[in-house]
Amino acid sequence: MIDLQQTGNGLEGYGLLAAQLEALLADERDFVANAAQFSAFLYTQLEDLNWAGFYLNKHEQLVLGPFQGQVACVRIPFGKGVCGAAASSLQTQRVEDVHAFPGHIACDSASNSELVVPLVKEGRLIGVLDLDSPKLSRFTEVDQRGIENLAAIFLRLTEC
Ligand code: SME
Repeated sequence: MIDLQQTGNGLEGYGLLAAQLEALLADERDFVANAAQFSAFLYTQLEDLNWAGFYLNKHEQLVLGPFQGQVACVRIPFGKGVCGAAASSLQTQRVEDVHAFPGHIACDSASNSELVVPLVKEGRLIGVLDLDSPKLSRFTEVDQRGIENLAAIFLRLTEC
């Protein structure tokens, strides 16, 4: 069992989180198990989150996957909201104020900023990783790079 401690949000913090995630997923390749672990890991290790989890690409729609936080909307069409924008553009969406994002889908009224990373493995869109925060501008460029790296570790260590 690894010892998980709060690591802060700097580059150094993300280096430590990357090592912890590698250890957490080292012995398991099952998708649901690893996705559930990864969302719990993010939710407990990153500060100021009110939701962390997955939407999965099923027949060109995003369908709710393993997550931590309040109950959420189940299906999101590609192109709709922040998650749909990440899925259709294949670009990370880092939104400082979700209320200013056209088409934002408000699952939890506490959310004010959001980071959504598209998950692509061997050229195939698996889904998106969605993080929500009650703080405006919660996610910096350092957070984006750090969380994209964690998502890459998850994809490498998980059968998709
Ligand atoms: N806000 C997201 C929807 C998912 S919830 O935040 C969990 C969006 O606009 O895509």
